[in-house]
Amino acid sequence: MRTIVITGGTDGMGAALARHFLRAGDRVVVIGRSRAKFDALLATVTADDQSAVSRAEFVAADLSSIADSRRVVEHLNANHERIHALVLAASFIRQRRHTTPEGREASWALFFVSKYVFVTGLAALLGAAERPVIVNTAVPGARVDAIDFDDLDMSEGFTFRQSNAQQRRANELLGILATDQNPDLTYVTWGPARLVRSSFAGEIGMGMKIAAAVLGPLLGQRPAAAVRPIIGLINTPTPGRAAYRGTKKLPLTVGDHDDEDATRLAKAVEADL
Ligand SMILES: NC(=O)c1ccc[n+]([C@@H]2O[C@H](COP(=O)([O-])OP(=O)(O)OC[C@H]3O[C@@H](n4cnc5c(N)ncnc54)[C@H](OP(=O)(O)O)[C@@H]3O)[C@@H](O)[C@H]2O)c1
Repeated sequence: MRTIVITGGTDGMGAALARHFLRAGDRVVVIGRSRAKFDALLATVTADDQSAVSRAEFVAADLSSIADSRRVVEHLNANHERIHALVLAASFIRQRRHTTPEGREASWALFFVSKYVFVTGLAALLGAAERPVIVNTAVPGARVDAIDFDDLDMSEGFTFRQSNAQQRRANELLGILATDQNPDLTYVTWGPARLVRSSFAGEIGMGMKIAAAVLGPLLGQRPAAAVRPIIGLINTPTPGRAAYRGTKKLPLTVGDHDDEDATRLAKAVEADL
C-alpha cells in the first residue's frame, strides 16, 4: 500500500487529493490545523468505504512554526517505513509582512522553510520507496534572481509580489538539493492552469477577496478537477526535476549558478533552523 503525505490536506486542492487517494486505497497522512475539516473530509470518503478509517491519519500542526514542522517530520519518521508521495500544499496567503511567535517572517516560514524541513527531514522515508514523488505546489517560473540571500526574512522592503517570487524560486532550488540526493526521486513544482475555487485561506486585501469571491465561482476550476494532473504525476513518476502548469510541462528556469544558489540557500536555512 502506498503512503501519501499531504500538507494542507484539509482543504482546497490538498483535500481533493486526500479524498482521491483514500478512495484509491492508499494510506493518506493529512497535515493541517483543523481536525474538524479532516473529520468532515474523512466522513465523505467513509460514507462509501469504511476501510478508509484505518488508512487515514491526521496530524495537527501549524506549519508556519518550524518547531511544529520538525515535530511532524519526527512523528512521520517514527511511525512510517516509507513515503511514496509528498504533496506540499499548505497555504495561508498574507499580503503584508507578518512575524510568527518564533520571530520568523510567516510566508517565508510556511511557503519555504517548513517545506525545506519536510523535504530534507523525510529524505530517508522517501528513499525507502521505489519511485518517490514530491509535488510542491509552488508555481514555477520565478526569476532566477528572486532570492535576497542577505535578507531571506525580507525585514526590509517586503512586498507580496517579491515574497511570492522568492519562495517560488527557493522551492525550485530545493528540487536540485532533493534530486541530487536521490536520483530516483521525481520533484515537481506545480501550479494550476487557472484559478482554483479553493478556500483562499489567508489575510488578504479587498482586491484579492473580491477576486476570490467573484472570479473564483465564475472562472475557477473545482479542486477535484484541478488536481487531476497531480494524480497523474504521482501515479506515473518520471525521476528528476520538472515544472508544470496544470498538465502543461514547462521548461525549468535555469540560471548561471543554480547549484551554488541551492547550496547557499541550504546553508542559510540550516544556520537559522
Ligand atoms: N487556488 C489557486 O487558484 C492557486 C493558484 C496557484 C497556486 N496555488 C497553490 O496551491 C496550493 C493549495 O492551494 P489551495 O488554494 O488549494 O489552498 P486552500 O484551499 O487555501 O487550503 C489551504 C490549506 O493549507 C492549510 N493551512 C493553512 N495554513 C496552515 C498552517 N499554518 N499550517 C498548516 N496548514 C495550514 C489549510 O488547512 P487548515 O485550515 O486545516 O489549517 C488548508 O488545508 C498552495 O500552495 C497554493 O499556493 C493555488
